[in-house]
Amino acid sequence: MGIAYLSSAHGQEIQKRAYEEITKVYPDGDAWERCLVEEKVPYITALVKEVLRFWTVIPICLPRVSIKDIPWKDAVIPAGTTFFMNAYAADNDETHFKSPFSFNPDRYLDIPDGSGTPHYAYGAGSRMCAGSHLANRELYTAFLRLISAFEIVPAKNRADDPILDPLECNMTKTSLTLDPKPFKVGFRVRDRAKLEGWIRGSDERTKGL
Ligand code: HEM
Repeated sequence: MGIAYLSSAHGQEIQKRAYEEITKVYPDGDAWERCLVEEKVPYITALVKEVLRFWTVIPICLPRVSIKDIPWKDAVIPAGTTFFMNAYAADNDETHFKSPFSFNPDRYLDIPDGSGTPHYAYGAGSRMCAGSHLANRELYTAFLRLISAFEIVPAKNRADDPILDPLECNMTKTSLTLDPKPFKVGFRVRDRAKLEGWIRGSDERTKGL
């Protein structure tokens, strides 16, 4: 869905800004390699967070069973109750996120350390996603490299455009995870010689796998 959004009119502005931010931090053009060992472009980190928030991947999280009675207002929720956290609702909570239904990576810039859960895509609490750090690194690298290598443009036919609405884009609304309806976008290569060099380098590094 992040790629889908980047193909939209607002996505063109976001890509332009992202590309400028990458170039500012890496004027020598080594972002492709450096992103594997460091995370120095805050706008890309913010873009990843906003993608995770806006299209909450597991909208109702995983079922969890309580192990003790929980007093709640005038009631007691007995041990053994199954809970689902409505992460979609939390990610769109207007008391927590300003204009939650707008896609806006800027909301994640200049947030001081220790500000708490940035979004609920990974759940929350002691059983939140055990792979969130790995997933964040992968997404940062993927978006930085995609934006470095390509301009993501709309498909040739309007009928192939993605549905961007976080509920309507889901192929199976009752499934555990958000499964985007099929769509097309275009990838316009920024610099073919560079891209071919990067691909050759990757082929070389992974040939033993
Ligand atoms: C963008 C990618 C990912 C998303 C959005 C995601 C999301 C989630 C969510 C929402 C939960 C449930 C949290 C809760 O109930 O509060 C979860 C659990 C979990 N995830 Fe992920 N996940 C991602 C990637 C990964 C990766 C890469 C790994 C492993 C390398 C991983 C391993 C796990 C495990 C082991 C749990 C269960 C944790 C537990 O029950 O204590 N996830 N994930």
